[in-house]
Amino acid sequence: MDIVGVLAVAFWAMLPAYVPNNAAVLVGGGPPVDGGRTWNGRRLLGDGKTWLGTVGGVAAGSALALVLNAVHPVVSGAVEGLPEFTLVTAVTLPAGALVGDIVASFLKRRTGRRRGAAFPGVDQLDFVVGALGLTILLAPGWLFETFTFPVLTVVLVVTPVLHVGTNLVAYKLSLKSEPW
Ligand code: CTP
Ligand code: MG
Repeated sequence: MDIVGVLAVAFWAMLPAYVPNNAAVLVGGGPPVDGGRTWNGRRLLGDGKTWLGTVGGVAAGSALALVLNAVHPVVSGAVEGLPEFTLVTAVTLPAGALVGDIVASFLKRRTGRRRGAAFPGVDQLDFVVGALGLTILLAPGWLFETFTFPVLTVVLVVTPVLHVGTNLVAYKLSLKSEPW
């Protein structure tokens, strides 16, 4: 597979994991997942992790996976090797992405970072680790077939770039309060 093909497969396979963060920014708000609880005087997760954002984010990612499956017959004529999502991976990719994001917030609060503080490296890859981690657990065959070494390499290099770019756009559009 050439580099364009690898990029296409990486982007396609990760889309259901990319979208939940952005959807959460749009639909998030209301009661926080941690219910306001604290640990050693610091919030467990903070007000940036809400039920609406989490459920809405997973729903958006799963819906996108189903849309990609629906257009797969057409698109796969032009690009070979694009994966189809199973019912399990249509859930593990978005749910894992937001679990990764929630674990990152937990770590941010434990290290004294306030809501919205940057955590370089963790902010850009938490959702990749979460999405692929949950998928390895529940659909290992699909994961290893899809994320070959070249595809995984592209994901790890391209994701931080995309993440920084989309967050900058969301900040400029006043959808997010910080540019990261
Ligand atoms: N969001 C949400 N629920 C989630 C994830 C995100 O409601 N599970 C929404 C919140 O409105 C949040 C915004 O998306 O403020 C941006 O997400 P993120 O950058 O992950 O949260 P932060 O507010 O920066 O908080 P943290 O420091 O915990 O990352
Ligand atoms: Mg943030």
